[in-house]
Amino acid sequence: MNASGVWCRTEAELDELIKSSASTFVTKSSTLEFREGNPEPRYVDLELGSINSMGLPNLGIDFYLNYSIKNNQKENFLSVAGLTREENLEMLEKVQNSEFSGLLELNLSCPNVIGKPQVGYDFDATKSLLEEVFSVYKKPLGVKLPPYFDIVHFQQIAEILNQFPLKFVTCVNSIGNGLFIDTDSEKVVIKPKNGFGGIGGKYIKPTALANVRQFYTLLNPEIKVIGCGGIENGKDAFEHILCGASMLQVGTQLMKEGMSAFDRIEKELREIMKQKGYSTIEDFKGKLQSL
Ligand code: FUM
Repeated sequence: MNASGVWCRTEAELDELIKSSASTFVTKSSTLEFREGNPEPRYVDLELGSINSMGLPNLGIDFYLNYSIKNNQKENFLSVAGLTREENLEMLEKVQNSEFSGLLELNLSCPNVIGKPQVGYDFDATKSLLEEVFSVYKKPLGVKLPPYFDIVHFQQIAEILNQFPLKFVTCVNSIGNGLFIDTDSEKVVIKPKNGFGGIGGKYIKPTALANVRQFYTLLNPEIKVIGCGGIENGKDAFEHILCGASMLQVGTQLMKEGMSAFDRIEKELREIMKQKGYSTIEDFKGKLQSL
């Protein structure tokens, strides 16, 4: 499937995803109301990935909720990223009281809204938000996490996540607040935040794999891991699954290549599986070996 934010903001983009060979789709992270987002340029393709500081441009929860209800032939994911705790709870109540029958991806990790830290890095705030979320929301829900880098942090956040009936975690959002420079002009390449933005693509694959592996190992088995970060080809997809991913999201590569990325990656993955004698994902999911 796509990663939230990529090709999923407008009706036309979502229609294309539905027609593609992706098994499902996730909508752009929505806020309660329409948001313009940050000033442009705010997304730039780089040789080994991308940098973005979109600032949550989106059409508002009502649009994505109605679209998801109308187009539920692929059980889809609705992404929500309220700017405050109250906004998140209000959106969740709306979804709870609607006919939505898909999965909700609560985004705890957008690095690009000026003045708003990523909730997923504040463990106490994450725990109290989830307590409130599960008191109002009873449908299937998972969280999109920022990348973590410290073994103790993996353990601490996993201990919190294990206390809730989460269906999944998505690992990872972009690595927040990287800086890419154009040496010729001696300038940054995106306008918001003096050039600081989320890094995606090949740059982040090792970090994404580490997060998938850690959460696959540390979380209750009922909480599935969705792998996201640096998936450009079948080998990347294979590695994410080997680390424990049950499902995969493609972000930067989908922006670069368009819908054909889904077919190509799947074909390449099937080829690798054939060469290794695997006939199902379960034959190798999570079976990464240590030395
Ligand atoms: O800036 C953005 O809209 C990005 C959102 C995200 O990375 O979750």
